[in-house]
Amino acid sequence: MNNFIFQNPVKLIMGKGMIGHLSREIPAGSRVMITFGGGSVRANGVYDQVKEALKDYYTVEFWGIEPNPAVETIRSAVELGKREKVDFLLAVGGGSVLDGTKLIAAALLSDKDPWDLVLSRTPLTATVPLGTVLTLPATGSEMNRNAVISRKETQEKYGITANFPEFSILDPEVTFSLPSYQIACGIADTFVHVMEQYITVTGESRIADRWAEGILRTLTEIAPLIREDQSNYDTMADFMFSATMALNGIIRMGVTEDWSTHQIGHELTALHGLTHGHTLAIVLPANLRVRSEIKAGKLLQYGERVWGINQGTPEERIEAAIEKTEEFFRSLGLTTRLHEEGIGQETIAEIERRFNERKIAFGEQNDVTGEVTRKILEAAL
Ligand code: NZQ
Ligand code: ZN
Repeated sequence: MNNFIFQNPVKLIMGKGMIGHLSREIPAGSRVMITFGGGSVRANGVYDQVKEALKDYYTVEFWGIEPNPAVETIRSAVELGKREKVDFLLAVGGGSVLDGTKLIAAALLSDKDPWDLVLSRTPLTATVPLGTVLTLPATGSEMNRNAVISRKETQEKYGITANFPEFSILDPEVTFSLPSYQIACGIADTFVHVMEQYITVTGESRIADRWAEGILRTLTEIAPLIREDQSNYDTMADFMFSATMALNGIIRMGVTEDWSTHQIGHELTALHGLTHGHTLAIVLPANLRVRSEIKAGKLLQYGERVWGINQGTPEERIEAAIEKTEEFFRSLGLTTRLHEEGIGQETIAEIERRFNERKIAFGEQNDVTGEVTRKILEAAL
């Protein structure tokens, strides 16, 4: 087991009707800016619940944080927040609204442009306090300090370290209104978060491995149930809790991580606007195939414990495990090949060029260079 330090201060408030608890969590007298996406919360009643819970507060609303939150939008929110002298932020939406609001929280206390904060590469710890009401299980943003911010002008997308929310409210009933494509992307995202922290090195931690396998098996079990009925409270609660547990720091304790699938996926989103979870469903199987040698031990363990694969040579079992993974993503209704999304060699060359120019390499052995990325994307064609 590797050394680690774990600290996660987020108060998780889970269950039916829990949005009503908002006024217990936000200090009385706060000037609250509530941030939203494009309007799904109006249609599903979340907006009304939030407004009712905050009826005794001074509130300002900022609408329009888009999927893959753009710094261009964040700048307007920061202007409004500074003008209104807000001292508490409440993000109501999916990972994009939460991530965008994490950057707003830092930018409100800074004179710098938000994009300079993104590029600063230092954790943004001086922030206005932030709470969240999550409406889409996927990113884990509700219980971590990450944010991923895009810049439309230059088609760039980077992850940053920001601050944790003070609290997050998760009512599984709010997920009943999700479009099936967003559910598929959310399940794929959660699955790949676990894989990035699990398919690396064997024998580092039995307990972390079992936690990871527990989440993966929960997802494979509930995915078909959700496709049949996405209004089943207990199934959606398991989905929501799985997504939170997959990226709140718990399953990474003491183990080696990868994250190359995410880095490559971010480029596909930046260049083509492809939804985050969908990019991962395309990149992960190819990434596992190209790097199956360094991941062999963990792929065998994964195949056996998650998919029950215990027949054949190691090579056959590894390929079967990767095939099962790709089939799982397809069973969600996602495509798993670049050509199916009209993406080809031109994009592959651009991503290779970007990684070479930035002189970066990802993965548990820093082996995912620009050149290896090209191999992975060609295997995903
Ligand atoms: O904008 P509205 O109208 O609210 O609609 C949203 C949006 O169009 C809709 N939606 C959300 N909840 C809904 C709903 N529609 C109906 N009913 C509901 N209950 O879903 C659409 C997508 O929302 P978005 O927030 O973009 O999705 P997601 O939660 O997947 O977030 C994606 C962003 O998070 C980043 C991604 O890169 C991407 O930018 N990530 C953040 C991470 C983190 N902070 O730790 C880690 C992840 O790996 C990821 O990179
Ligand atoms: Zn992700």
